[in-house]
Amino acid sequence: MTKTPLIIDCDPGVDDAVALLLAFGAREALDILAITTVAGNVAADLTARNARLIRQIAGREDVPVYVGASAPLVRPPIIASHFHGESGLGTLPVFEPDAPVAPGEAAQAIVDIVMNRPAGTVSMAVTGPMTNLALALQREPALAARLGPVIVMGGARREGGNITASAEYNIHADPHAADLVFRSGVKTVVLGLDATHQVRATPDRVAAVKAIDTPAAKAVAQLFDFAVWTEQTHVGGDSPPQHDPCTILYLLAPQHFTAAPVDLQVETQSALTMGHTAVEFRLADPAAATCRWVTDVDHEAVFAVMLEILA
Ligand code: BDR
Ligand code: CA
Repeated sequence: MTKTPLIIDCDPGVDDAVALLLAFGAREALDILAITTVAGNVAADLTARNARLIRQIAGREDVPVYVGASAPLVRPPIIASHFHGESGLGTLPVFEPDAPVAPGEAAQAIVDIVMNRPAGTVSMAVTGPMTNLALALQREPALAARLGPVIVMGGARREGGNITASAEYNIHADPHAADLVFRSGVKTVVLGLDATHQVRATPDRVAAVKAIDTPAAKAVAQLFDFAVWTEQTHVGGDSPPQHDPCTILYLLAPQHFTAAPVDLQVETQSALTMGHTAVEFRLADPAAATCRWVTDVDHEAVFAVMLEILA
């Protein structure tokens, strides 16, 4: 099988951590070139520490972790520790990882890695605010044409918002970065809440993960337990959506996702709807669209993929 060269840009984050564990486990399908971290769910030093910690649990210290932006492009940071715990990893025991971060910083690493490889070959999964990618595009505009598809977790249409009435957290946390990325012409596949709310850690699925005796599955089980608690406490319901893992699952099994070409614009003016994603399906020339919006997911099939990898 040909491996997909991949950069994962993330803000771990409980569900980012599940996404990372999946990606690290998919050794035959993904060639993870780098993890880049950004301030988001928790501060930048913690997201970088958490990425290194998950890397160590997975035994993948071969993958470099680059520290990225400590604040959004324009707006002040919005921390989401009520959903991810003070450490960002819920109740997963935290420790100082053995291996350090890589020298250099995230935006430059993205530029260097992508510009030094053949056009269209490096994909990205972006599971946090899009600050690092926006900074990379500002630094090297040719990056937009050179990058392979960018699989984004962000935005909402049918579902409404999860941080405000109309905005999803990742886009709301850095709307100016998201606006820059979507205007850049880079090819994106976007998994908004419309898609990720279909992929939930139900009690049966949590039990299935708990039955797997691997370090990655044990960590995922603990992350799921915390996510169930936050869902019960803050939202109501006992089956938390698995937002960020959807990006990795899309890369591994795109046949289980239904997507359509759209025009996606980000609200950056209104305080009320800041970070809202205006998703337009009525296009004069659908073939020219650079963005695909995921509308439906075969959630049974993608959870089967998840269980297979964790085992
Ligand atoms: C997104 O917000 C973050 O809190 C999660 O990690 C996910 O990336 C969901 O809206
Ligand atoms: Ca995230």
